[in-house]
Amino acid sequence: MAHEEKIHLPSKAKPHTTIATRRICCCPAWLFLTILCLIIVIPTVTIPIVVVKLNARPQRPSFHVTSLKITQLNFTKTLEGPEHHLTNYLISKLNLTISVQNPNKDAVFFYDTITFDVFSWGFSVGSGYFGSSFVQENETSTTLQASISNTSEVVTKYSEDYEALDLLKQDVYKNGELHFKISLTTSVGVKMGGKLKNKVGFDICCPGIKAVAVDHASPPTSWELPQQNAVKCCILNAPFSRFKWG
Ligand SMILES: *[C@@H]1O[C@H](CO)[C@@H](O)[C@H](O)[C@H]1NC(C)=O
Ligand SMILES: *[C@@H]1O[C@H](CO)[C@@H](O)[C@H](O)[C@H]1NC(C)=O
Ligand SMILES: *[C@@H]1O[C@H](CO)[C@@H](O)[C@H](O)[C@H]1NC(C)=O
Ligand SMILES: *[C@@H]1O[C@H](CO)[C@@H](O)[C@H](O)[C@H]1NC(C)=O
Repeated sequence: MAHEEKIHLPSKAKPHTTIATRRICCCPAWLFLTILCLIIVIPTVTIPIVVVKLNARPQRPSFHVTSLKITQLNFTKTLEGPEHHLTNYLISKLNLTISVQNPNKDAVFFYDTITFDVFSWGFSVGSGYFGSSFVQENETSTTLQASISNTSEVVTKYSEDYEALDLLKQDVYKNGELHFKISLTTSVGVKMGGKLKNKVGFDICCPGIKAVAVDHASPPTSWELPQQNAVKCCILNAPFSRFKWG
């Protein structure tokens, strides 16, 4: 009986072993593929996503001076103080329009009030600000307008200042063309991928603005930037390099 059992057992066990061996053979192949999957497929898909997310930065907004109308720019002199000091003033009246673009498909910008300073040959012509703070949705552009009237003291300390003043006076009274540089400052926050980033300061410069006389008076009494000559401004600092994601 015991002998018979001994013979019987292996014969029963044999197919068992074969199945077991097949399973042992089969499992690693399946496991191998799964591990291969984990090692190759998942990282090749996820690493770029992680890298893109870490590097995702909004493109910076762009700024243009689209219109500038000057309805007064001339000088006046007064005697001031107990010593009757002769003081020169530059009187200005102007309308300024800028346009601000958000080029991003997936970022919203939050602006603080944009302030501006207008200069001609280094002399301050006036300063002001555009309305109030605003929100700019993805891929939109915003037009801002401001008008100012100003009387600013003409300060001449150095010989170069006198040369510059001479150039400004020639522009105003002779050339029929005025030269301006406008600087803008603001702070911009950004919301991208559901994340809101703190505002960072922007210093923007719009150089090379030329306004031509629009009347035939001599000297002219009004000037404007020709419509086709909208001026692209440049951002002087690199604020969004600080905006890293992830
Ligand atoms: C300054 O210009 C305005 C118009 O642009 C004119 O009305 C005014 O008389 C001028 N003043 C002087 C002192 O030239
Ligand atoms: C300047 O802007 C004001 C409003 O902002 C407007 O009433 C005025 O007509 C404008 N002047 C010119 C010359 O465009
Ligand atoms: C971007 O703006 C469009 C409409 O102008 C909107 O349909 C889309 O959902 C916006 N995308 C994001 C990520 O907010
Ligand atoms: C006039 O311009 C000066 C210098 O740009 C500025 O400090 C001042 O605030 C301006 N005044 C007005 C009324 O705009």
